Amino acid sequence: MKESTMSATAKRVMFGYIQTQTLHAVVKLGVPDILDAGPASAGVLAERVRARPDTLARALDVLVRLGLFCRDEDGRYAHNEDSRCLSSAHPNSLADLLLFCARESYQTFAHLPEAVRTGEAVFPEAWGAPFWDHLEANPDRAALFARAMERQSEALLRKLATDHDFGQYAEIVDVGGGKGQLFRPLAAAGVRPPCVVLDQPSVTDAAQAYLAQEGLDHVRFTAGDFFMAVPEGAALYVLKFVLHDWADPECLRILERVREAMTKSPGAKLMVIELVRGGDPSPWSYLSDMLMLSTFGAMERSEAEFRVLLNAAGFEVEAVEAIAGAHYQIVAAPRS
Ligand SMILES: C[S@@+](CC[C@H](N)C(=O)[O-])C[C@H]1O[C@@H](n2cnc3c(N)ncnc32)[C@H](O)[C@@H]1O
Repeated sequence: MKESTMSATAKRVMFGYIQTQTLHAVVKLGVPDILDAGPASAGVLAERVRARPDTLARALDVLVRLGLFCRDEDGRYAHNEDSRCLSSAHPNSLADLLLFCARESYQTFAHLPEAVRTGEAVFPEAWGAPFWDHLEANPDRAALFARAMERQSEALLRKLATDHDFGQYAEIVDVGGGKGQLFRPLAAAGVRPPCVVLDQPSVTDAAQAYLAQEGLDHVRFTAGDFFMAVPEGAALYVLKFVLHDWADPECLRILERVREAMTKSPGAKLMVIELVRGGDPSPWSYLSDMLMLSTFGAMERSEAEFRVLLNAAGFEVEAVEAIAGAHYQIVAAPRS
């Protein structure tokens, strides 16, 4: 490999922070939403978002070079296929996730060398409190995070609802289920058994409002702590994007609570939905692993690591199936 190519790769990785924050600036100003209505010049955009036209054009030119948005011969900017998901109206919008990560995660990553050295979370060093406490103390950031989680999962859950026969379960409990967003695509696919969402008390108001707004009257929200107890007696327990927030000892405690709850419903299954590290050729699952390390001192696990963890918690893995990209569903049952 030529020297120049080697340094180009190193520079691309090294200056990733410029890419993140240039995109952050453009999304925070609301440019993608304005471009939904059609192409616009830097002058028009700048007036709408109250920015300087020359600096806004320079920022947009960075993103055009990187493959987001395009610029026509008249100098007007427009969406391309890859930038549409940055508008807030897009059904799978990434805007909220970007607005959250470009601030909370971005500042946390400045401390990553310490996390790599120790294996401990560095979110508290960056923000003065552990992640969930930070959200508890900042309701607007908590609402942004909850919306980001919901949007991020929409397409994945729609796919899962058609891939897996959820109609076979008499009752479903979503452990750490946020506002209950799992149940919207399931209801849209005609699956409406009695359902329970267990999440933290701080989520209660947002969850009640969400369930009422979405007409999910078959879903009940329960405020609680999955380290203490999980609602008993359901046919299916779902843990979606929960285990990756915790190191193995905490995961074992959560899984133990789930297994206890399942003793009241023989034949019950556990479904773990997670990004599997190395589960597809893209680097995303490895990048997300660093996100989990810095934020929680946790990890994205490989399939083998999930098998070891579930086995240690007394579960037999019955199926491991890809949903989309490196997202997988892992179905397990308590070992008798
Ligand atoms: C990454 S989010 C995933 C939410 C949802 N399952 C999803 O896939 O969109 C993790 C969830 O775990 C919840 N959580 C964290 N600690 C908890 C605890 N001790 N008891 C119950 N829920 C908790 C959070 O409030 C949050 O909703």
